Amino acid sequence: MTSLLVTNIGELVSWDDERPVLRDAALVVEHGKVTWIGERTAAPDADAVHDVAGAAVIPGFVDSHTHLVFAGDRAAEFEARMAGRPYEAGGIRTTVAATRAASDEQLAANVARHVAQMRAQGTTTVEIKSGYGLTVHDEARSLAIARQFTEETTFLGAHVVPDGTDVASYVDLVTGPMLEACAPYARWIDGFCEEGAFGADEARTVLKAGIAVGLEVRIHANQLGSGPGVQLAAEVGAAAADHCTYLDDADVAALSDGGVVAGLLPGVEFSTRSPYPDARRLIDAGVTVALATDCNPGSSYTSSMPFCIALAVREMGMTPLEAVWSATRGGAFSLRRDDVGHLAVGAKADLVVLDAPSHVHLAYRPGVPIASVLQM
Ligand code: NIG
Ligand code: FE
Repeated sequence: MTSLLVTNIGELVSWDDERPVLRDAALVVEHGKVTWIGERTAAPDADAVHDVAGAAVIPGFVDSHTHLVFAGDRAAEFEARMAGRPYEAGGIRTTVAATRAASDEQLAANVARHVAQMRAQGTTTVEIKSGYGLTVHDEARSLAIARQFTEETTFLGAHVVPDGTDVASYVDLVTGPMLEACAPYARWIDGFCEEGAFGADEARTVLKAGIAVGLEVRIHANQLGSGPGVQLAAEVGAAAADHCTYLDDADVAALSDGGVVAGLLPGVEFSTRSPYPDARRLIDAGVTVALATDCNPGSSYTSSMPFCIALAVREMGMTPLEAVWSATRGGAFSLRRDDVGHLAVGAKADLVVLDAPSHVHLAYRPGVPIASVLQM
């Protein structure tokens, strides 16, 4: 089969410039790419036809921020938080110990399980970070495993300073032998710039070392409080500053002036019972917003983009359409990708069919499995 006509689409969300959302639509796929979109009644012939019976079709979700290479869980920590304990970045060390103790096969099986769960909920592109190894060997193997699943791999040696070392020696390790071992498996470099993790100077040193060997930058910033992370992201030309929960006006201006995508991760605020970031303020200031799961066993153990969309709409001032944009096209911008996150002609044919007539149902029916990837 060389061409497939997907027809009887009740609502096609393609993000095409001319007609971003089209009713009673159809679309043609050839060799894995979209070659035609338009009104159903104007559709060309194709070798095969798939009728979606009035369902909505949207681009596959682009989850631009996950930490899938880990072992164990931290359910007890979550339980304690729900009883009033605060989230602490130091919990990362618990997962580091479990990850170091796991075999390559166990880690790869965990990633495979999570990636399959994501796909079952409509995610077709995923970024995966290291950051629970924190030795040369464990960071490099984390990235080698992540690479089996995606090109969008991120070296996060600068997640926290592991036990038994000081920050200066650890930054030397991260920017020296660890970077050398990890760079071949990574597209991106990341750093957790936050009190209790890395300060601006240390994070800058790490990110610049990554840039020097050809990595592109994304950053964890302003998650637990105000701080220099977002400004640093703009300074070093990061593609994305993720979390962005605590921002002052200068931070918002830095994101918009610097063209840095703000990655909002509402699973974190849900799971840590914290105030949600203000998406409305960012969008109104002209900042590009991406939504992602941040799937990790500490601060956000969800792999569900639909859940994040529902939270963004209910808690963060986004319209359903804005939330779907941020979970697809916004995620693609965050990863500097133009081939995914939309369904205009030329895009990869990552189609998600909703068991619903419109994208609004993603937020309107939280927790209901209505999104599925169209298998071709
Ligand atoms: O994105 N902020 C830093 N890293 C993760 C949390 C990791 C953990 O708690 O294990 C995050 O929230
Ligand atoms: Fe994260």
